[in-house]
Parts: sequence; structure tokens; C-alpha cells
Amino acid sequence: MNRKKFITTSALAAISISACGNIKKIDENSFNSNCATTNDILGPFYRPNAPKRQDLTTNNIAGSKIDLKGIVYGSDCKTPLKNALIEIWQCDVEGNYDNTSQEFKLRGSWNTNENGEYSFKTILPGKYLNGKLYRPAHIHFRVTEQNSKELISQIYFKNDPNIQEDPWASDPKAELRILPITLEDTKGNLAVQFDIYLSNKN
Ligand SMILES: [Fe+2]
Repeated sequence: MNRKKFITTSALAAISISACGNIKKIDENSFNSNCATTNDILGPFYRPNAPKRQDLTTNNIAGSKIDLKGIVYGSDCKTPLKNALIEIWQCDVEGNYDNTSQEFKLRGSWNTNENGEYSFKTILPGKYLNGKLYRPAHIHFRVTEQNSKELISQIYFKNDPNIQEDPWASDPKAELRILPITLEDTKGNLAVQFDIYLSNKN
């Protein structure tokens, strides 16, 4: 390698490391971004075919209501993906999942719109025991899109004291999925934003 080429290559490598924290191949064609949202366990309570609906708070369900919303992006970290299917499921404030009823309580699915956006109205989940420890409050996600790898993941909430001892929420890869609950407007409505970055299928 001549000196000029060596310097150029080194400079590119340095940019890649400093910008992303990982060494990535400098090849546009095989570029696989590491903005991809990390996965989490499916857990035992997934049910397929959750109803297509955005409002999971019907029938006066107990709990603090939140607007859960975000944008789904492709593997280039910037292109919104339309028609991605978002499925969410969670427990109620007592820590119970609806595993049997046809109401599919606190379960729903929705497709992203032209701008890659999705939103649900739901509640902050309660907690349930995993052995002797409570799992932190969390909402499960399954995201599927025709050109992307399926994503199974969970979100958690900042300042939840049960995160620290939970093996999944305390994993460093969950860091970007521990989300703030924000005041959405002047009326005290709460919101949680979870933007999702998918990886290419191949
Ligand atoms: Fe769960």
C-alpha cells in the first residue's frame, strides 16, 4: 500500500470508529448500519393476530394513559418505512397479560403510514414477578416489514428502579430502549417516543 492510500484508508477507518463506536466496513454496497434497534426476548405471552387498533384503553381500563408513538426507519438509518406492521403487547396495572380472551386486552397491531409513523394509545404497564424479582415495566414489540429482518424487542421506562436487577433491561444493548415519559401538551397528557431502526433482510 502506498503512503497516500494508507493515509486515506486510515482516515476513513478513524471516522468510522469515532462516529459509530464500532469498526464498520467502508463499502457502500455492503454497508449494514449499527443504528439497528436491538432485540429483546419474546417472552411467553405473545399472541399472534392481535386486532388492528390504535386505542388499547377502551372499556375504562385502569392505568395512566400514554401516547406511544414513533417512526420506523430502514437500515440506512434515515428512510422511513411505510406499511411496517407493529404489534405490541403488555400487562395491565396488576401485572397480568390477557392470554386467553377474545378481547386481546392491551394487545394491538398497526401499520406505519406513508411517513413511517405509528402510534398507539395505551397505559403504563404494571409489573410482574420473574422469580423473586419484579421485571421493570415494559411493552413488548414485534415489527415486521417486507424487506427487513423481523424485530422482537421491548421498551422500558427511565428511572424504573427494577431495571438495574433485570437481566434484560440492564443489558447494555437495552440502553436506547429505556425511554423517558414526557409531558405531551399543556393538558398533562403523557407520551413515549420509540423510533425503530430495522436491518435489511440480507
Ligand atoms: Fe412481558
